[in-house]
Amino acid sequence: MTLAGPTVADRSLATDVAELYERTRARMGDEDLEHIRTVAAYSQAIKKCSRELLQQGGSADAMRRGVVLYALHSLLEFSELGHNILHGSYDHLSNCGEFHSDRWVWDFNIDPHEWKVMHHQNHHPFTNITDKDHDLGYSIVRLQPGQDWYAHHVVQLALIAPALLSSMSYYMGVYTAMSAARTEGRKVLRPSTFPATSNIIAQHASRDYVREPFAAGPRLLHTALGNALGATLGHMAVFFLVALEHHAPNVELFHDPGPGETPDQYYERQIRGTTNFERSERFDNWLQFILADVDFPNPPDFRIFYGGLDTHLEHHLFPDLPPNRQREIQDDVRDLCARHGLPYNTYPINTYIPLAFRKLGILALPMGEREVRNPLRLLRAPIDAVRRLAYGVRFQRNPYEPYLEAPKFFDAKAKVIRTRREARGQAHTFRIAKPAGWDDITWDAGAFLSVRVPVRDETLVRQYSLVRDSVDSDVFEICVKRVEDGRVSNHLNDALRSGKRIMLVGPPTSDGPFVMKDLPERPLFIAGGVGITPIISMIRKIAREAPDTDAVLLYFNRDEHSIVFDDEIRQLTEQTNLRVEHFCDVAPRSRDHLRQGRISVNLLREFVPDLADRDVYVCAPGVVVDLARDFCTELGLPADRFHTESFSPPALVRPAEGADDRYRVRFRRSDTDIEIDGCTTLLEAARSAGVTVPSGCERGLCRACVSPKLRGITQLESDGAQLARITVCNSLPRSDIELDL
Ligand code: FES
Repeated sequence: MTLAGPTVADRSLATDVAELYERTRARMGDEDLEHIRTVAAYSQAIKKCSRELLQQGGSADAMRRGVVLYALHSLLEFSELGHNILHGSYDHLSNCGEFHSDRWVWDFNIDPHEWKVMHHQNHHPFTNITDKDHDLGYSIVRLQPGQDWYAHHVVQLALIAPALLSSMSYYMGVYTAMSAARTEGRKVLRPSTFPATSNIIAQHASRDYVREPFAAGPRLLHTALGNALGATLGHMAVFFLVALEHHAPNVELFHDPGPGETPDQYYERQIRGTTNFERSERFDNWLQFILADVDFPNPPDFRIFYGGLDTHLEHHLFPDLPPNRQREIQDDVRDLCARHGLPYNTYPINTYIPLAFRKLGILALPMGEREVRNPLRLLRAPIDAVRRLAYGVRFQRNPYEPYLEAPKFFDAKAKVIRTRREARGQAHTFRIAKPAGWDDITWDAGAFLSVRVPVRDETLVRQYSLVRDSVDSDVFEICVKRVEDGRVSNHLNDALRSGKRIMLVGPPTSDGPFVMKDLPERPLFIAGGVGITPIISMIRKIAREAPDTDAVLLYFNRDEHSIVFDDEIRQLTEQTNLRVEHFCDVAPRSRDHLRQGRISVNLLREFVPDLADRDVYVCAPGVVVDLARDFCTELGLPADRFHTESFSPPALVRPAEGADDRYRVRFRRSDTDIEIDGCTTLLEAARSAGVTVPSGCERGLCRACVSPKLRGITQLESDGAQLARITVCNSLPRSDIELDL
């Protein structure tokens, strides 16, 4: 299977994943065991230090440190140690000893066997599939608006009440026991469900609230309270990290794909349904300051406290690779995602924690995706609200209004690292850093970038030419000029500044007749206004590779103040054999190298008498491009030597014979179908069915509408290729189609 849209992969996703796994696993050995032994010893040293501080500390500061160290010990027991050991990361190493998944005992309030059942049998195979994934955030807790609401979700309001937080350390064990019972086909609410969990809870309670406090003598109460706070804090930390990884706003929920899910689709779901968190440096520094109390020579890298929860995307592709190896291959996985046009999700932990509290509160009520954004909608549809309540109270799936509304579309957020005013503020140049994982992306002179920009209530997609090719720059540079009624261009000029982020719709498009892959012998460039941007990229290529090239630039502007890149053009003229002729609509007042003039046959004949022997590159407003084409033809230029940047590929050819064909298009997430003929695009079908799909060019160019296809064939796949994602705007059905929309 190949992938459509923003992908440069020539092999299947599953093949790439398997190869990376084999390569990494082959490197495992004693070094990995040594690492995990050190972590286990460090965890015990932290717990010992916590106990000493609580039992003997004698000050509020000692108590505070003891509590935090207890929490860090719990975090370590779950993350770097338990989570990975119980995944069998070391089972294949003959000398793994106690670090075998069947032998490991952790200091955490969950029975390891029950956790393995829930986690390995439900969570990993069914990641983010509603009703099948039993991980935290599903079933008992509701953290995604797309999940059905059941009456017991009201209880999650308790989780945001500080007085009830202490129940968290027991709640997770009880929940896991119930989930394991359900998975193994046992009755859930039976005494037989809870003996293992009860046993663990009793052991921990007797240690935390009896043995250790009584051993502390006069500090009995301090120790008991410190242990309670430490256990709560540790379990809460685990809860939020786990919740973030599959419930942050940038991950997706899925319906059950059924047994037909291919290996590529499986891995794609894992990637789209998982996010890594971005750590908080300030918080890390504070924790490291607290850890200075622990007497342990050469402690391991601080990232052990996240134990693969900060490389969760890697973990979901390679569940039994240990966390030190997951950290090692992060760049490879980023590249893999970029090659296959998939998002490499990351989300800041600082932003998520308040968001999670809000979600726990708001999703305790029967809100769907639409109502979360606007809770009053629920009141505006009272019948729907009553239905949801009725089904939720009876613990039945709501067969009516779906909670799951829309898929997420793949965008890559990129940071603007510099802006520069051009032409007295009539335009701005934006330098944009490559998003993570795009390091290997290259593009030629004449390539363009698609951006998705929210303007008021709408999200609009536009294309902008890149000012430099990838040999000249490892960042994206675009120049955007204000235009009358230009909603996106004016918005970017007014609002986009250094440090802000912009949404890119995939890597640059570097194909098509306007892209200059090889240098022409005698180019003529005709630029109008901001149309100079791709052309200056071409001239830079000439300056770099063949400065003696006989090149001519005719640059048309409204007036002398509208000229963009005036200085750069002058410098390039000095470095090359380029001849530049500037023309303005209105007579220039102060600069003698400017002429008044508009494009015409006579002007072209006068300034480029050998035009018919050149390759002509035109980037200008549509009307100028049309005039230039007519004049060049009149002057004898062969059509195949006229290259233009119009951001418009050939119009879609709708086969006349397709009008009699009938195909059914199913939009799975929207739970709706429509019948169309073979001449109707899937975007048109979506609109007719009331399904919203973002779009831009509507000609298969900008990738704004790339959507996951679950089933069926389109005319884009007539060569036998099976595309997992398609540009629906230019896709015509050749069979019944099912889209994940
Ligand atoms: S590719 Fe631009 S809207 Fe479909």
